Amino acid sequence: MNKTLFIGDINIDILMYGLASMPLPDREITCAGFETVPGSSAFITASAYSFLGGKAAFAGLAGTDDNGVFMINAMKNSGITAELVEKTDKVKTGVTVNLIRESIRSQVTYPGTIAEYTGSMLTPDALSAYKHIHFAGPYQQLKFKSKISSLLAFAKQAGITTSIDTQWDASEKWEFLDDWLRKLDYLFVNSDEAVSITGCPGAEEACEKLALLTACPVVKLGKKGAIAISGSRAVKAYPYKVEVKDTTGAGDNFDAGFLYAILERKLSFNEALHFANAAGARSCQFTGGTAAKSSYKDIIDFMEVGK
Ligand SMILES: Nc1ncnc2c1ncn2[C@@H]1O[C@H](COP(=O)(O)OP(=O)(O)OP(=O)(O)O)[C@@H](O)[C@H]1O
Ligand SMILES: [Mg+2]
Repeated sequence: MNKTLFIGDINIDILMYGLASMPLPDREITCAGFETVPGSSAFITASAYSFLGGKAAFAGLAGTDDNGVFMINAMKNSGITAELVEKTDKVKTGVTVNLIRESIRSQVTYPGTIAEYTGSMLTPDALSAYKHIHFAGPYQQLKFKSKISSLLAFAKQAGITTSIDTQWDASEKWEFLDDWLRKLDYLFVNSDEAVSITGCPGAEEACEKLALLTACPVVKLGKKGAIAISGSRAVKAYPYKVEVKDTTGAGDNFDAGFLYAILERKLSFNEALHFANAAGARSCQFTGGTAAKSSYKDIIDFMEVGK
């Protein structure tokens, strides 16, 4: 089994949950509890992929500060190899503070190492060791995003499959995306991202428009499930009813489920979408993106119960 390489952000997540209200200017509020956990879309995806049973490697930039050490230890503890993780003492590791009140989640991010990553270790030789490359959250990687096109081109000619979860682009310009779409095997976006990228009024139209531009758009619809198109096949996955504790990382768990189902279990596109939908829903029952630690069997059992 060859490894899948996850390239992206490295940051810790501070989760402050059970807020008495959302923050108000010049006021102090209290919360019921807090946790410091490994964060970042790329890490949560890699860790979920590893817990499912896949072999994951990571590429990104970590600070030499305590938070960087915390993240590299978290990779080791999740079975992720950190061979392409670069280290710097010039900038601090990224931090996201998540303010969680019921289903509302507001985030404040200090980008730090996320914005400084340049991908200098991603040589053709290094990349040839992987069967699939997943890019997560490229729009926060200010010094790296312009390099993604050439990495996708290399992967294509080397027979390595690729995917991107764009996450939100705060500028809504979606720079470079047209070119990425042409080269990608799988695109993961949520409903708001799909609508912003395409200018379509709703997620279904947006998914159809994306299918004209890329091989396989997968659009996550939160509590409404997910839709995807591959060639002439459009598939809808209906939502699971779950008691939601925290939706942090649901999309990343979903991506990991889809990739694991396709790459490791060789499931069909249709089955992979349903498996991913279950992986995303199951993760909502836990606080933080990595707490679900879903195995392949956990997801299969979850799908049986949720039928
Ligand atoms: N409330 C919910 N109930 C059931 N399933 C959910 C719920 N929220 C999310 N999911 C599952 O998780 C998947 C991903 O969630 P979402 O659409 O929020 O993605 P996202 O916005 O990319 O998430 P993230 O915030 O992690 O980036 C959904 O497609 C669905 O399968
Ligand atoms: Mg997302």
